[in-house]
Amino acid sequence: MKIDPFLVEKFMNAHEHNVELNLAETCVDPFTLGEFLALMGREDFFEDLKETRLTYGFIEGSPELRQGLANLYDHVKPENVLVAGGAIGANFLVFYSLVEPGDTVISVFPAYQQLYSVAKSFGANVKLLHLRYEDQWLTDVDELAELVDDETKLIVVNNPHNPTGSLIDTGLLKEICAIAEKAGAYLLCDESYRGLYVRPDDFVPSAVDLSEKAVATGSFSKPFSLSGLRLGWIAANEQIIEECMLHRDYTTISNSMIDDALAALALKHADRIYERNLKIIRTNHGILSRWVEDEPLIEWVPPRAGSIAFLRHNLKMSSEELCLRLIRDKGVFLVPGSCFEMEGFLRIGYGCKTETLKAGLTRFKEFLNPYR
Ligand SMILES: Cc1ncc(COP(=O)(O)O)c(C=O)c1O
Repeated sequence: MKIDPFLVEKFMNAHEHNVELNLAETCVDPFTLGEFLALMGREDFFEDLKETRLTYGFIEGSPELRQGLANLYDHVKPENVLVAGGAIGANFLVFYSLVEPGDTVISVFPAYQQLYSVAKSFGANVKLLHLRYEDQWLTDVDELAELVDDETKLIVVNNPHNPTGSLIDTGLLKEICAIAEKAGAYLLCDESYRGLYVRPDDFVPSAVDLSEKAVATGSFSKPFSLSGLRLGWIAANEQIIEECMLHRDYTTISNSMIDDALAALALKHADRIYERNLKIIRTNHGILSRWVEDEPLIEWVPPRAGSIAFLRHNLKMSSEELCLRLIRDKGVFLVPGSCFEMEGFLRIGYGCKTETLKAGLTRFKEFLNPYR
């Protein structure tokens, strides 16, 4: 089965372990295991696990984990949740389960490449719904409606959005749901960054709470800072979950019991994790905003949610060359827009430790000085 190279993964894999200041990361400052257990008040956690027999465990995810995940939504029951190997595993399973050759799949672009390349590899006719800087990187619903055809099986969005940090608000999300419903298509809403709102008064419901046709995917990596667990999930109606389960039997059996138990613990005290992470995001967003305001060579649409921003630069060099020089000269790691097929842009992650962000931005400014 042919598939396009996953550009951002290739670039990250090549460089992330050899850089001093990593501003390319999308997760909010990952926990050490010790920090996590301390925040949960469960330093004795592994003592308790000693008696646990390492079987396959619960195939779809433990009842505690599925209940904890269902609690993140308004109208989702534990049976409507399926645990997967990261949001990447969750998304893959949705495509594998719902998309057939010849189907039309409409995906936002730029985007996390998985959201359009996997469907293409499965033989779908993928149509890109372009998001633009001038539109604050938000979906134009008229354009979406025009892309819909009789074969449309799936519409794919990402909220909050990687790489721009744009946030589809409730009104716009309802309009997108209505288009999917009218087309008789499913709506996959990748909600890997859900809950990471920059402004305290922002809140957007999950697509799965708005429409029967919606499938939401989620991640323990970004808002929960637990990327090392490699867990994510799908939330959807019974018929979709059943379809995903049918396909999942061939790929997963179950996820790790230990990861499952740690993830269930995280959900039990999700409020503590969100408190920690929103503080990081909001502090760092302020620092980055002031930096961008002060830097004539860089402009942006300020991100409203998530942990990343898409910076537009004015330098007369490709985004990849810029990033490679920045690594070589300053040890600072950003992702070139070329990884999203968007020349002239750079993705920066601001979910890292505040000191890392500050040091990285200081060096990035030094790097830019001669070009001003
Ligand atoms: C939009 C989006 N979806 C899914 C993923 C995969 O996340 P996970 O670590 O949960 O597999 C990422 C990771 O960067 C992402 O940005």
